Amino acid sequence: MITGGSQGVGKALGEMLASLGYNVVVAARQQERLEAAAQGCQRRATRPDSLATAIPCDITQPAQVTMLAEKVFDTYQQVTLVVNNAGVCMRGDWNLCTLQDYQVRMSSRG
Ligand SMILES: NC(=O)c1ccc[n+]([C@@H]2O[C@H](COP(=O)([O-])OP(=O)(O)OC[C@H]3O[C@@H](n4cnc5c(N)ncnc54)[C@H](OP(=O)(O)O)[C@@H]3O)[C@@H](O)[C@H]2O)c1
Repeated sequence: MITGGSQGVGKALGEMLASLGYNVVVAARQQERLEAAAQGCQRRATRPDSLATAIPCDITQPAQVTMLAEKVFDTYQQVTLVVNNAGVCMRGDWNLCTLQDYQVRMSSRG
């Protein structure tokens, strides 16, 4: 189960784990990109019965995280590996960072 699995490091990791025979759950906010990432995992799966599941979730919202966990356990009954990867990278001049910028970025660091 990979948070932030729709792009970047999380997406690449999902595809790698699928190629190693894992069932993969990817979670992130933007559904379309998330579905595409799950399809990418499915294409790289080496086991014929492998599953790749996209579950929309904003990890800054505790109720959504609870729903994510419930859906994962309902589907797979167990979790082998959790990759707590979701996050917002801060680029640019630190001196121009506002308090709101800082709070948005820190809120995804659960
Ligand atoms: N790339 C670097 O150089 C670097 C360096 C140091 C640390 N990191 C950290 O490594 C992790 C991956 O980096 P990356 O470059 O692959 O990032 P990325 O390409 O920006 O991808 C971030 C992922 O996290 C998801 N995400 C962001 N906020 C979220 C939220 N509130 N709830 C759920 N999902 C959320 C995004 O999807 P949605 O927007 O659809 O939710 C996306 O799938 C991040 O935590 C990043 O801060 C990266």
